[in-house]
Formats: sequence, C-alpha cells, structure tokens
Amino acid sequence: MDNNRSSWGSNLGFLLAAIGSAVGLGNIWGFPYKMGKSGGFTFLIVYLLLAIFVGMIIMVSELAVGRKTKLSPIDAYQKVSKKFAWIGWLATIAPFLIMSFYTVLGGYCLQYIALNMTKLSFGNDSVAMGGGDVFGAMLTTPIGCVVFTTLFIIICMVIVQGGVSGGIEKFNKVGMPALFVMLLIIIVRSLTLPNAAEGLKFMFVPGYAVKAGFIEKAPDLITVLGTAGGQMFFSLSLAMGAILTYGSYLSKEENLVKNSVIIVAADTLIALMAGIAVIPAAVSYGLNQGMAPGEITLRGPGLLFITLQDVFSNMGKLGPLFGVIFYVLVLIAAISSAISLMETIAAHWIDKDLEKGETDTRQRNVLIVSLLILLEAVVVAADGLGSNFSPASLLGIKTVPTFLDCFLDFMDCWSEGIAMPLGAMIMALMIGWENTPDLVLDEVAHGDPSQGFKAFYRLCVKFIVPIVMAFVLAGQMIDFFGGNQIIWYVVAFALLVIFWIVAAVGKKPEQA
Ligand code: PFF
Repeated sequence: MDNNRSSWGSNLGFLLAAIGSAVGLGNIWGFPYKMGKSGGFTFLIVYLLLAIFVGMIIMVSELAVGRKTKLSPIDAYQKVSKKFAWIGWLATIAPFLIMSFYTVLGGYCLQYIALNMTKLSFGNDSVAMGGGDVFGAMLTTPIGCVVFTTLFIIICMVIVQGGVSGGIEKFNKVGMPALFVMLLIIIVRSLTLPNAAEGLKFMFVPGYAVKAGFIEKAPDLITVLGTAGGQMFFSLSLAMGAILTYGSYLSKEENLVKNSVIIVAADTLIALMAGIAVIPAAVSYGLNQGMAPGEITLRGPGLLFITLQDVFSNMGKLGPLFGVIFYVLVLIAAISSAISLMETIAAHWIDKDLEKGETDTRQRNVLIVSLLILLEAVVVAADGLGSNFSPASLLGIKTVPTFLDCFLDFMDCWSEGIAMPLGAMIMALMIGWENTPDLVLDEVAHGDPSQGFKAFYRLCVKFIVPIVMAFVLAGQMIDFFGGNQIIWYVVAFALLVIFWIVAAVGKKPEQA
C-alpha cells in the first residue's frame, strides 16, 4: 500500500503546509489578546518555555509516529499502542468538531471580503453601517451564513481533492508567502495610526493592560500557564491528528527535530506579527473614538469582525482596500488550517481503501467528509454565535456556562477543551511509559542522532508533558464549565494518575 500512498513533493512543501496548518485564526484573534492580558513579555516567556518543553515534544512525537507507521491517526495509534489505541479516534473526531465552526468563520471572512470590495467599488458610504451593525445583521441572517460556509467548505474540498502535493502543498506554497507580505502591509498601516503605541504597550509591557484599564485584574500564574498551554496547543495544531497525518507523508530522510523547531518558530513569529498588525489598529481606533480601554473588543470574533471593520471603515478612501487585504489574509490563514483538518479526517478512509487495494478514492472520500462537515456546520452557521438560538436556549437553561453559550463554544469545548489536552497527555504517557521513548527516538534518528536531544526528549515526554497537560486540561475545564476551580484540578490530576498507572503497569507492546 505504501507505493500508492501520497507524499510531499519536497521538505519545503511540507514545512509550508505544516506552518499553514499552525497559522490560523488562533494566531490572529487569540494570541495577541492573551499575551496582553496575561502580562506581555512574561506571557511570551511562559509560552516559549511551554512550546520548547511541551509543544516541540508532542510535535516531534506526532511527526515520528506518523512517519513510522505511514498511517492516519486511528490506524497509527492502533499500531503503536494496545491500551490507548482509542486516542486515534479522539484525534479524528476533534478535527471534525473544530471544522464545524472553523468553516463558519471562514464563511464570515468571505462575506467581509465581499463587503469591503463593495465599498472599494462604490465608495465607503455604500454600506454605511458600523462594524457592530454589519456583524449583527450578518449573524441574524442564517441563510447568508450557511451559503458562505458552504462556499468555504467547497474551496477547502477542491484543494484537498487535489491531493497532498497537488493540492495542499501547492496552495500553501503560494498562500503562505502571500499571507506574510499582506501581514507586513497591514503592520505598516497599523503602526502609523495615532495612538498605535498604546496597543504595543498593551501587548508587550508587563502590567500595562491593568494599569491602562484594558482589563481589571491580571490572572494568576497557574491561570497563565493554562491559558498559554491551551493557546500553544491550538495554535500549533497539536494533538488533533493534523501534524501526525502531515508527518505520515514525509520522507525518511527529513530531520524531524529541525522541522519542528522551524514550525514552532514560524508560528510564534506570525502570532507576534499578527498582534502587531491588529492590536495597535484596534486600540488606536477605540481611543480616538473616545472609548475607555476596557470597552475596546480585542479578541475573538468581535476583534476580527467588529473592531477591525470599524478601523477600516474609518481609515478614509483607502480603508476598504486595507479591509480587502486584511480579510483575504485571514481567509488564507483559515483555509490553510482547515485543509489540514479535512485531510486528517479523510486520510483514514483513503488509507482504508488503499488497504483493500482500491486506489484513487480521494475525490469520493473528501466529498463525503465535506458533506458531513457541512451538516454540522449548518447548525453553527444558523445559531449566529448564539444570536438566533444556542444550546442553552434549546435546553431552557438560565445561568449559562461558557460551553452552552453558542454552538461554536459547545463544539470548541469538546475538541480544544477536552480532546486536545487529554489526547496530548495520554500520548506522552503512551510513549513514555507504555512503550519506551525509543519508539520516537529511533524514528527521529534517521535525521538527528544527537544524544543531548535524546536525554531532553526522555525527560520531557515521561514527566514534564503529562504534568503540564493536566494543568492545561484543568484550565480548559475551568474556562468552559466554570464552577469551583479546585474541583477541576482534582479531576484533571485524578485522570493523570489513572492513565499514568494504566500506562506503566503490565507488559510493553512489541515495537511496531
Ligand atoms: N492552528 C490553527 C489556528 O491557530 O487557528 C487551528 C488548528 C488547525 C487546530 C489544525 C488544530 C488543527 F489540527
């Protein structure tokens, strides 16, 4: 079956595709705000330490398991683990759930490109509403959202049907450099706006967010750890099967450690650049409008689709042009991430067909996966981030925990909130204790035999990653479910202890 399985055209192609998967909405609307809120440079240092000691380890592990087995997540984990084969399902269902809202957000980008193009052609007053009104009108028109979500899914489907090197690699080879150039253009524009320095101070100066009134209270260190860990995992596309799947198409000669360092560095650089592009512009606009710093929306859909649209509408004649450039940039980031999720899901069925000797089933399988994604995305598109209905309203619940706010949060809770930290924790325990770290290190050694890395890897995969993941899991549960924090820490650490015992006790599996 190996002979017919897809592969990357080049290592550079793989790198751009993996960076494309990593660089997404998380970099633009999550990282800058969390950094500002959580102490600027202090957050950056915590984030980087976590990326080195935890993110890098999981990334190398996923790439190694993928390349070693040359299989998609469900079959790959079945091959390397007796006790935890089921995390392959977590790593396939989680991307499916993420796609339910990622595609809707991609659809919003398409609508905003159209809106700014209209303004560009017919003048800024042609659609003279503020960002909040435009967004509200869009959310309460479910039909429009469903149509544009469908369009976004079709774009992704066509790319993934094109194949690993013929579709995904090709898109990223053009898309990633284009995204970089567009980001530079927006950065220059953003930094030359009045009061832009306030935005930079919010992001970089420790304590400034509280001092200037952007937020009321700085989070404590444990909360920062959970926030930075969750953000880092989502941003690097880890524990969702995507990196494992991309690794399964990689040639034996490539150096997995070096590749991982490049992906982590590029993703962090783009997250910082995205922050410098959007936060100063948003802060500048808000302050110039006489808003108090605490009133400016600097995160999530509100940042992208309300605050920044206001920025472009108030920029004068060239505003819509910058608007088009910006939303095309966000669209490219969304597509390059969404195609990695779609590929991860479809790869399972493509592999199964190959096993049966059926080749060329990519088109059909990707079409079926796209239709299934459309079915769930319709619900998220129609609820309009809770404007039209929500899980809470359907259940008739009054005090609403975050995960029942809207279907986006509901899907995000099970994927990013639970499956991701749990999957990463168990993966580390599976490699470190059920197997031996040599499972990964032997594979890595094709490109990197360094002893230093081996010692570092063993320490991290056996101890540091599982413990940090328990903190991240607790942090996510606190965010999504609320209630007593201590209870969630107890739950997360109880799960850690149980899985640790399960992993360590009994016979080691034969090496795949
Ligand atoms: N890394 C993407 C982002 O930052 O938006 C999201 C993502 C893509 C998560 C692919 C997980 C994944 F497998």
